[in-house]
Amino acid sequence: MENLLSVPIKNDIYYIGTNDRETPLFEGMWPLPNGVCYNSYLIKGEKNIIIDLVRANTTTDYVNKIKEIIGDEKIDYIIINHMEPDHTSSIGSILEIYPDVKIVTNKKAIALLDAYYHVEDNIIEVKEGETLKLGDREFTFYMTPMVHWPESMVTYEEKTKTLFSQDIFGGFGTLDGGIFDDEVEYDRFYLEETTRYFINIVGKYAGQALKALNKLGGLDIELICPVHGPVWRDNPEKIIDIYTSLAKQETIDGCVVIYGSMYGNTKVMAEAVARGLSEGGLKNIKLRDISKTSLSYLLSDIWRYRGVILGSCSYDNNLFPPMEYLLTEISHQRMKNNIWGIFGSYSWSGGALKNLKKYMEDGKYNVLDTQLEIKGTANHDELESLIDFGREMANEILNK
Ligand code: FEO
Repeated sequence: MENLLSVPIKNDIYYIGTNDRETPLFEGMWPLPNGVCYNSYLIKGEKNIIIDLVRANTTTDYVNKIKEIIGDEKIDYIIINHMEPDHTSSIGSILEIYPDVKIVTNKKAIALLDAYYHVEDNIIEVKEGETLKLGDREFTFYMTPMVHWPESMVTYEEKTKTLFSQDIFGGFGTLDGGIFDDEVEYDRFYLEETTRYFINIVGKYAGQALKALNKLGGLDIELICPVHGPVWRDNPEKIIDIYTSLAKQETIDGCVVIYGSMYGNTKVMAEAVARGLSEGGLKNIKLRDISKTSLSYLLSDIWRYRGVILGSCSYDNNLFPPMEYLLTEISHQRMKNNIWGIFGSYSWSGGALKNLKKYMEDGKYNVLDTQLEIKGTANHDELESLIDFGREMANEILNK
């Protein structure tokens, strides 16, 4: 049968993933301006095997792809590497079409299958390092807890040296025609979306991600089939290196200045600081208005740039609420390789700088001693101080 909807990969492994350009927010909170894909794989053979499913809203496309490959044959097994509903919520429809299918997964996922979908029957449990023969194919399973959920695992086929890596090595963005790493301009588009995905979704589990990457480092891998983003057949080392760098929280020479401003005074201060960063020799500078920028992009910038400067106006004796929310999220991310800077606008009550300082002290952050607080609109001398502060941060970043 011709492959018009699905894409052959190799040795009877087919790409049957789907694109989602309708859902505005991943997990209900991370913007998807470029959509997201839910990758799934079908192995046709003595037994027909699916590895990872798709989200329910794309089931129609999905079933058409399956049918294109196997026609009226049945699916014998579904291997579930990860239970998050973007990869499992089509299961009800699939079980209606293929009621005798056996599900292969681990103990933690079995509990979640029951909890989420009330599926309890026809399940084969696999354990860490176990090899299972399904028809003429043989798979080995490795647990990768917390990357991204506690039940997450990966599936490796030694014969084809293929790693079905679930969320690991994934990224945001639909696959618009090109499926493989050698069919897309990865650095132009997917690199940014992979970085944001890693930091938003996996970032707080970076330690576990590193452990998982070390564990997988012993495998001979020629093909990586993740559940989001391109399939890696040409240069799988590249995505392994990108993920390893992200998991290690390696930072680049640059600074993000995030400000919260009600009437523009804190914004002017932030721009003076940014001018100082530039005068200090820094070229990679980003200014972010916290009121207009999704947490998704703020966290992504903070993770990547060595320098982070937070400037907040005071709001009813306290921090600007969006800044308070950002600080709460930063503490969940456990970032460890940044140099921090803070400044505040006093308004009529103060409160911003006082709370930024407390947050930095409580979290034992590496923060610069210069911490400016300005009443109302910055005057000439205060603008000079803010520019000097930017220069100081640039020196810290570049001399490190
Ligand atoms: Fe793509 Fe953690 O699900």
